[in-house]
Amino acid sequence: MKTPTAVVTAGPTLEAIDPVRFLSNRSSGKQGYAIAAALRDKGFDVTLVSGPVALDDLAGVTMVRVESALDMLAAVQGALPADVFVAVAAVSDWRPAETAPRKLKLDKAGLTSLALVENPDILKTVSNLAPPRRPHLVVGFAAETHDVAELAREKRLRKGCDWIMANDVSGDAMGGADNAALLITDDGEETFERAAKSEIAARLAARISEAVARTD
Ligand code: C5P
Repeated sequence: MKTPTAVVTAGPTLEAIDPVRFLSNRSSGKQGYAIAAALRDKGFDVTLVSGPVALDDLAGVTMVRVESALDMLAAVQGALPADVFVAVAAVSDWRPAETAPRKLKLDKAGLTSLALVENPDILKTVSNLAPPRRPHLVVGFAAETHDVAELAREKRLRKGCDWIMANDVSGDAMGGADNAALLITDDGEETFERAAKSEIAARLAARISEAVARTD
């Protein structure tokens, strides 16, 4: 049997305003790194496309470090085709319409507002690729603070992905060591009780591995 392949995104993206300032978010990358490691341990050939995080490279995984959402999309496209795509990154929804080449000065007129443009949706882009570019299994994440299951079910359909891992981030899931999730697939839902992110990752990797084995 050939070695199955997976591409995983993790961490935040960083959207430069000028050479010293940026827009970003509080994603630590821990859950995405744990999923990449768990897939590696299940025998996958894994490429991890990571935004800026304070985590070490994973041994036995092809690491691609990026900053912005545009760079992350290009790196993902460069890493495809793959059997599985898991979008764990907290991609910034917006980026500054322009990145100033020099540090912006406080005394410059008009600096009390920042023009933003929307970033591409990497998960949606990959979900909507035509076969054979589209991975057999595309898994997205939904971090919500309320109505978690309902919003995640809607998100699965809107993004066109196969599965969604829904997280309640009203507590400390973002940056913390633990997580709890609801896995929503086309044929049911499974609760992943609160556990270490490595444990959640191992359970998801086991499900992914079973699903990929069925497509062989
Ligand atoms: O729409 P929302 O950001 O809540 O969707 C979360 C899911 O979509 C995650 O899987 C995230 O990695 C992915 N996403 C993406 N590109 C974006 C925004 C979100 O891949 N620009």
